[in-house]
Amino acid sequence: MKNTLVLKVNPDKPEKEIMQISAGIIKKGGIVAFPTETVYGLGADAFNPKAVRALFEAKKRPLDNPPIIHIEKTADLYKLARNVPPETELLMKCFWPGPLTLVLKRLRAVPEVTVAGLDTVAVRAPKHQVALALIRESGCPIAAPSANLAGKPSPTTAAHVLEDLNGRIDAILDAGPTRVGVESTVLDMSTSPPQILRPGGTTLEVLCKVLGNVKLHPFVAADKEIAIGESRSPGMKHKHYAPKAKLILVEGNISAVAEKINEIADVYRQKGCKVGILSTDENETKYEGAVVKSLGSRFNLDAIAQNLFRLLREFDAESVEVIIAEGLPSEGIGLAVMNRLRKASGYNIIMAMK
Ligand code: TXA
Ligand code: MG
Repeated sequence: MKNTLVLKVNPDKPEKEIMQISAGIIKKGGIVAFPTETVYGLGADAFNPKAVRALFEAKKRPLDNPPIIHIEKTADLYKLARNVPPETELLMKCFWPGPLTLVLKRLRAVPEVTVAGLDTVAVRAPKHQVALALIRESGCPIAAPSANLAGKPSPTTAAHVLEDLNGRIDAILDAGPTRVGVESTVLDMSTSPPQILRPGGTTLEVLCKVLGNVKLHPFVAADKEIAIGESRSPGMKHKHYAPKAKLILVEGNISAVAEKINEIADVYRQKGCKVGILSTDENETKYEGAVVKSLGSRFNLDAIAQNLFRLLREFDAESVEVIIAEGLPSEGIGLAVMNRLRKASGYNIIMAMK
């Protein structure tokens, strides 16, 4: 067991001394959890194979699923990637720093373990002063998967990180809750046209505006499990975002959804299960006899994304055994939210129609 150091830090103006302490840990090959604009990441020196191995171990992550490498300046991309297609510069100009991860052909200089033996590398510049200061002070790109135990919902607060990783990592920088709430969009630039491997904080709609042509990997919008052979991103084949409770997702027409959820809730209550309902403001009063939590208004998908992982963890904390969740619109950041909910359900999806 390690003694995990908790360092409070100002999200907008990170204290120099705190950043030097945490960068010192990274430089020595240690592991530091830090906030980004999306979720908390678990960082190690991307060029230190031993540190990256320890990173995988700390979060019990399978070695075939590589982390994203976080950089401060766009120029640093060229220390990691080769054959960078011309439209990449435009994307970096429009969306960095921000929740967009670019998959590119990698340079040999990047250690094998950091890229899980792949010939590509996933890179992004996070839009958070603490993350940027940590990279700058450490003087190296930082490999960072989300700071949760593998398979669990990503952490949007330092408390979530501690819940999963207290005693397993060296330090955590606590700068309060993250803004976006779901992870970055992973865009594969090594194929033409570029392909979204994971929807996230940068929407398909804005990427289409800039690139003209963007493909969605079939897995991204899938409402069923797709064979492993078809997955391009290693992360696709691993269980993800799952609370301890069983999750059932009910999609379809909004009023039919509420009715169906009440029906399913009854069945589980009769079996003696503690039932939770993941609702939206518009439907909240339609449910009773269950732990009801609202993600926010259906007309504010940004707020819904921000609340998603926190509420999934709250159901676990209240020992809910079955969570029944409302489906949401798949536009904008809703696509990322629905992708997480579908994966969290293990594709246990029920269609409600009227
Ligand atoms: O917002 C985020 O992206 C957060 C914060 C901490 O930056 N990070 C994050 O990392 O979500 P992680 O490791 O939980 O997810 C990285 C995803 C995984 O699905 C992984 O399979 C994929 O990126 N990935 C990494 N390298 C890849 C590569 N070379 N090719 C395709 N997919 C890759
Ligand atoms: Mg993750």
